[in-house]
Amino acid sequence: MSTKLQAIRGMNDLLPDQSPAWQYLERQLRSLMDRYDYREIRTPIVEQTALFARSIGEATDVVEKEMYTFDDRNGESLTLRPENTAAVVRAAMEHGLLHNQTQRLWYMGPMFRYERPQKGRYRQFHQIGIEAYGMTGPDIDAEIILLSARLWRQLGMAEHVTLELNSLGSPEARAAYRESLVAYFESHHELLDEDSRRRLTTNPLRILDSKNPAMAEMLADAPQLLEHLDEESRTHFEQLKSTLDAAGIGYRINPRLVRGLDYYSRTVFEWTTTALGSQGTVCGGGRYDGLVEQLGGKPTPGVGFAIGLERLMLLLDTLDLVPEEAKGGADAYLLAMGDSAEREALLLGERLRDVLPTLRLQVHCGGGSFKSQIRRADRSGATVALILGEDEIANGRLTLKPLRDGSEQRTLELDDAITWLDQQFA
Ligand code: HAM
Repeated sequence: MSTKLQAIRGMNDLLPDQSPAWQYLERQLRSLMDRYDYREIRTPIVEQTALFARSIGEATDVVEKEMYTFDDRNGESLTLRPENTAAVVRAAMEHGLLHNQTQRLWYMGPMFRYERPQKGRYRQFHQIGIEAYGMTGPDIDAEIILLSARLWRQLGMAEHVTLELNSLGSPEARAAYRESLVAYFESHHELLDEDSRRRLTTNPLRILDSKNPAMAEMLADAPQLLEHLDEESRTHFEQLKSTLDAAGIGYRINPRLVRGLDYYSRTVFEWTTTALGSQGTVCGGGRYDGLVEQLGGKPTPGVGFAIGLERLMLLLDTLDLVPEEAKGGADAYLLAMGDSAEREALLLGERLRDVLPTLRLQVHCGGGSFKSQIRRADRSGATVALILGEDEIANGRLTLKPLRDGSEQRTLELDDAITWLDQQFA
């Protein structure tokens, strides 16, 4: 019996009707990175499993249950990247990008997590991320937040996203906090659900993330990380907040924001929206000053974020923010009537593309009646059909038939037709 071949659950095809909107979004993102002078880095989508286990943390959901891990033919354990911060650190160390210099990097591409698929949550999803190295102060934290805020403005969605901010302090401060948190949870052991009891020994900070309503009251009274900050982290956080205030960026302090990956220290943040249901985090990031050293490099501060592109795309769609002109489709559709016209149309198409480099032109192939060709012209999205028949060929002319505005068709000298196309579509 044959089984039907289909895509892997949670992994999406991007169909031609959707790709113009994605290309629009990717253009916006690339130009933004250029404007801040961030440089692109591309790393493989497969890395040694140990890289992720050692950076994201053994006790995180990602490493415990969401990685696509397999042995290659040599028996080496490899993993499809569930995120890209670890791989960028690996590549930057490997190629000496971190020696006595600062770096501002960005990447875009697919990530893989074995999560339960739902709207906004997939097993292959795409991120654009940035990572900046070698800068300790809160100014670079502010810069990447300002960059993200500019993106929301650029896309027209600024009033639909909220910035949530927290500081996790230094590793020492966090260790002390962890102890007081564990003591608090121990004293309320009977209120903890099974998952939280398990986390009590592995990752107690993550209990704060629990959405279990039965635990809400107890969690609200839990000791807060912000009250346990070391002096340096407190100053760092205050300075960041005052820069954001001065720049007019609103934020909400969320003392329970801990993020799901272990490498963070000090600043952590998320941009969330209420327009997407439960998967409302469009961007998450923070500072990870210990990670480079943890992976075997010299102590090097790092900070970054990643945006989930599917979620951003869903938001653009929901809010109807993809501009009409970004939706794609041909400008003009060239059709041919008569036997010799078919080849002439292909040649004319090439000539038009030579002289009109921005024209989006589809040349009809495959024959058919005038009516069926016009139907295809209409479906192509073109605003004008260019008709090449025996008469036009004999007289060096071209007929223009507007498809959208109801105006009359007319036959012009070829040069005049080119001038008209140039004016319409340049
Ligand atoms: P993250 O919070 O795990 O952080 O992911 C960042 C964003 O990726 C999320 O806010 C969400 O928009 C998107 N995302 C995550 N998982 C999925 C999924 N299963 N389906 C669809 N979208 C998803 C990181 O990955 C860090 N590396 C960010 C970072 C960079 N921190 C410092 N530098």
